[in-house]
Order: sequence, then structure tokens, then C-alpha cells
Amino acid sequence: MTLVGLNFAPMQESDLEWVAMLDARLYPYPWTVGNFSDSMRSGYSCWTMRDGLERVGYAVLMMVLDEAHILNISVQAERQRQGLGRRLLEHLGDVARQDGARQMFLEVRPSNTAALALYQRAGFETIGRRKGYYPAASGREDALVMRSRL
Ligand SMILES: CC(C)(COP(=O)(O)OP(=O)(O)OC[C@H]1O[C@@H](n2cnc3c(N)ncnc32)[C@H](O)[C@@H]1OP(=O)(O)O)[C@@H](O)C(=O)NCCC(=O)NCCS
Repeated sequence: MTLVGLNFAPMQESDLEWVAMLDARLYPYPWTVGNFSDSMRSGYSCWTMRDGLERVGYAVLMMVLDEAHILNISVQAERQRQGLGRRLLEHLGDVARQDGARQMFLEVRPSNTAALALYQRAGFETIGRRKGYYPAASGREDALVMRSRL
């Protein structure tokens, strides 16, 4: 698949319905429009990724001193496995570095094999485990905490 022209733009109010609709398709416990607009209001770094004019992904990054925390990174289901997640992750790394971050952190479900593979391939290492961090159909699921140096 040819990418017409991948570009990144700060998330706008007008993106929120699309972003929340996609989140509901991608996650069993999705963020709401309110969660995304709160993130924007809190000054988090919120992005959409477009291929030409088509929105194909989005991400939310929180900066705390010299650490960057990825709170959300998502690619539209029909456009997965085309290298877009990797490009979005690289973009977040560039933004974090420009803002002075030295390390980037994230949490991921151990059952999320696609995300785990993406992060491992991008050089993230597992540095911890939060017990029962996520809601899950069977009760709770742990989170793996991963870090990459920038
Ligand atoms: C995780 C996610 C962002 C990956 O996006 P993507 O665009 O499909 O990823 P890429 O095509 O850039 O893949 C990069 C690498 O990650 C790995 N990977 C990605 N998806 C994979 C899958 N389903 N199975 C195995 N490896 C996978 C591969 O190593 C891949 O490289 P390769 O295609 O050269 O082998 C996407 O699957 C997604 O949006 N999932 C739903 C939301 C989510 O779970 N987000 C993460 C929350 S922590």
C-alpha cells in the first residue's frame, strides 16, 4: 500500500468524535470524547496521523519533567500492519525529544501481542509489571511497564 503523504497534526475538537469512535472499535474499554478533550485541556500532546487527507491514527503523550508517557497510540484497524504504528511511535519519540524528554514510558496489556511486538521492535524494554492494572472480562489484567531511552 502506498502512503500518499503521511502527516501529523495536533488533535482538534473537530477530530474528537472520529477519535472516540475509533477508540470504541479498537479497545474493549475505550476512552470517551470527554477523556480525549480532557487530555487536550490538560495540555497533553495529542496527535492525529493522516495519510493524505484520510485520518488513519491518533496518539496521546503526557510529559512529566524529562519523562514522556504514551497514554494512547492507535491505528485504524483497516490500516494496521502497514508500518503506520511504527511511524506514529517515531513521531511521538521526536516530539518527546524536542520537549526535552530523555525516556519514554508506556503500559501495555500482556495479551496485546501486536502492541508488544511493535514496542519491542522499536527498542522498548519491559521494566515492571502493575498487578491488576486494567479491567478485563475475567476480572483484571496486569500491565507491563515498558521504557525506551530517547
Ligand atoms: C498496536 C498498533 C498501534 C500497531 O500499529 P500497526 O500500524 O499495525 O503497526 P506497524 O504496521 O507499524 O507494525 C510495526 C511492527 O510491530 C509488529 N506488529 C504490529 N502488529 C502486529 C501483529 N498483529 N502481530 C505481530 N506483530 C505485529 C511487527 O513487528 C511490525 O513490523 P513488521 O510488520 O515489519 O513485522 C495497532 O495494532 C493498534 O492500533 N492496535 C489497537 C490499539 C492498541 O492496542 N494500541 C496499543 C495500546 S498499548
